[in-house]
Amino acid sequence: GLAAIALTLAGCAGDPGAGVMNTVGTVDFANPLLIPPLAPSTVDADGTRSFDLTAQAGSTEFSSGVDTDTWGYGQSYLGPTIVADRGEHVQINVTNDLAEATTVHWHGMHLPARMDGGPHQLVAPGDSWHPDFTIEQPAATLWYHPHANGETEHQVEMGLAGMIILHDDAERALNLPAEYGVDDIPVMVQDRRFDDAGQIATDVRGYIGPLGDQVLVNGTLGPYQDVTTDVVRLRLLNASSSRVYNFGFDDSRAFDLIATDGGLLEAPAPMDGIRLSPGERAEVLVNMVPGETVTLQSTPPELGLSARVNEQNAGADTLDVLELRAADALAAVGTVPDALVPADRLAQSDASQQRSFVLNGMNINNRLMDMGRIDETITADSTEVWTVENTMPMPHNFHVHAVQFQILRVGSGPPPPELSGWKDTIYLEPGTRYELIMQFGSDTDPDFPYMYHCHMLAHEDAGMMGQFVVVEPGETAGSPPAAQSAP
Ligand code: C2O
Ligand code: CU
Repeated sequence: GLAAIALTLAGCAGDPGAGVMNTVGTVDFANPLLIPPLAPSTVDADGTRSFDLTAQAGSTEFSSGVDTDTWGYGQSYLGPTIVADRGEHVQINVTNDLAEATTVHWHGMHLPARMDGGPHQLVAPGDSWHPDFTIEQPAATLWYHPHANGETEHQVEMGLAGMIILHDDAERALNLPAEYGVDDIPVMVQDRRFDDAGQIATDVRGYIGPLGDQVLVNGTLGPYQDVTTDVVRLRLLNASSSRVYNFGFDDSRAFDLIATDGGLLEAPAPMDGIRLSPGERAEVLVNMVPGETVTLQSTPPELGLSARVNEQNAGADTLDVLELRAADALAAVGTVPDALVPADRLAQSDASQQRSFVLNGMNINNRLMDMGRIDETITADSTEVWTVENTMPMPHNFHVHAVQFQILRVGSGPPPPELSGWKDTIYLEPGTRYELIMQFGSDTDPDFPYMYHCHMLAHEDAGMMGQFVVVEPGETAGSPPAAQSAP
């Protein structure tokens, strides 16, 4: 009720900018970028590819001589990169060696709700969970992270997150840079703050949630990457809890955006900066010259807020992210193609339902997350238009599980290039209506919901989330358990 809402808002009030400090100017790029290992897998006789992920506690030396308590999947911080092909059947054996319950959600994946790893698929300490599903979507950069109701920010801040790379034939035919860790580089960006004892701290919070004063890439502080090819593909993932980045280079060079959250664009889009809010991904191609050094940076993003509130939630300083160091001789890996994959445009005339979502304060449509309540019931295989608007002078974004969507309109105009491809998460500039079109799949389950929510993790944890089920025509929603329980 009202008291709960007031309490939620009070938790985010105060002077949102107090004490927020960014790393200013040059970072000493002294550490080689850690490339997450590829997750080992085995393929059974029936073709199922199996991976193991164990959530565990550990200790990580981000700065030399300082041990920080961290969590990871099979390692002390973050997890291995899962690579799979379109059409493959995969099984992921998740084990929870932590002292608290967790879930693992496959962000951006189309899959049955029982496999989604949302708040209802809690894995108790010592337990395991074995979701399996077939990859039925195009090549893309996705990711995985915990989704325990109310605990997501803490578990992600401690280090639970990893990348997923999906390949397909259409992508392979383009001969894009694809040598993992060499010319195809995972770039998982997270801001963190460490307390005097070197432990991860989240106490400096804006309205947006915790803001760190240091930038980690793949868990590396002050990273550099040696480049040996004339074109390099960066898979940018904003894996931060709250911070929005505006990625670009220190010499303002242009780069080509080739893919958004759900896969490749129709054609590369040249740009010199791209805004990514938490959960969003972008694949970019960068041309390199022999012997040069160029720095990936983030300039303060424009959040669509007053200058003061913008600065409190985005910082005022340019953040150094990753230094690219080109070798004196670079191998030619080809030119940037003129065309990528044909766009498969969803048509507004095919939409059978329109829904609207208003993000106001810390709720969606005036409701806080309730595990026992289904907010929306959707018919399998239908196309819908969702209108989403943030009506508060506060930053929010919006993520939908189970689908990739296209953006029909931003305000009254067409979407900009970075919002013109497949997306599952978008930043919502306050006061602007976003019209999303999406087609739901044929996996139905009246009892297990998918989520939609703000992906600023403090907001998600505070209840800025709702649940939908996908059902057969005429079927009604069941009732999920109000409390979390293991599947
Ligand atoms: Cu990346 Cu519902 O989450
Ligand atoms: Cu939000």
